[in-house]
Amino acid sequence: MLGIIGGSGLYRMDGLKNLREVSLNTPFGEPSSPVILGELSGKQVAFISRHGLNHQYPPSLVPYRANLWAFKELGVKRVLAISAVGAINERFKPGDFVVVDDLIDLTKRREDTFYKGAYSVEVQGEDKPSKLLREKKVVHVDMTQAYCPHMRKVLIETLEELKLSYHPAGVYACTEGPRFETPAEIRAIKLLGGDVVGMTGYPEVALARELGMCCASLCVVANPAAGIAGYRLTSEEVILMMKNKEEEIKKVLRLFVAN
Ligand code: HPA
Repeated sequence: MLGIIGGSGLYRMDGLKNLREVSLNTPFGEPSSPVILGELSGKQVAFISRHGLNHQYPPSLVPYRANLWAFKELGVKRVLAISAVGAINERFKPGDFVVVDDLIDLTKRREDTFYKGAYSVEVQGEDKPSKLLREKKVVHVDMTQAYCPHMRKVLIETLEELKLSYHPAGVYACTEGPRFETPAEIRAIKLLGGDVVGMTGYPEVALARELGMCCASLCVVANPAAGIAGYRLTSEEVILMMKNKEEEIKKVLRLFVAN
């Protein structure tokens, strides 16, 4: 089953058949929204709204671990995260899709592992997929290929088929937010190799990896990053772009799932 994480502006996934809403709790609290289960292009998918149905979770406070844990419990094998980003690479324009292939984590205060060694959460109940937590292990997952190459390939084929404007690779830099970056920060991220900047792509991808789920991210350029734009950034601009791209994103999802 594919798990879809909807970002800013994508709070619901309409067009699903045999829809079922599941509210569940995890050892890490509740996911940011109820999980919507349903059929898309004849395949079973699960959908979570990353910021909550009313956009109530800022990037630092999204219950990332609960979201990924909920997916795992429901049988999700692959995760597709939709994210709005600012463009640092000047070839990337507002409205473009980017199938990112690597990541720089610049976040500061997020729980980004299920494996906290001696500090792991003890989970009650025999039927929960909680064995890994009871083991209280320290685990270092490999991130040589941060995003699933197979999912990326299918995403690229899908974007190509739909003749949408996209970039087949790019480095995603994740900042803490909720404020936008300064122009100096963007220049620094550019020197580090970042092509796009967002506030939510990490730790989702690492947590998915810890739970053995493949993960890819479909990024949508909402704005030129700070200092490149030549004007002040607003979250309204980001949400508006995501709303404008909603139909295209849904088309991509339908075809991606069918492929
Ligand atoms: N910076 C960080 N996150 C973002 C941006 C940005 O410019 N645009 C959309 N999400």
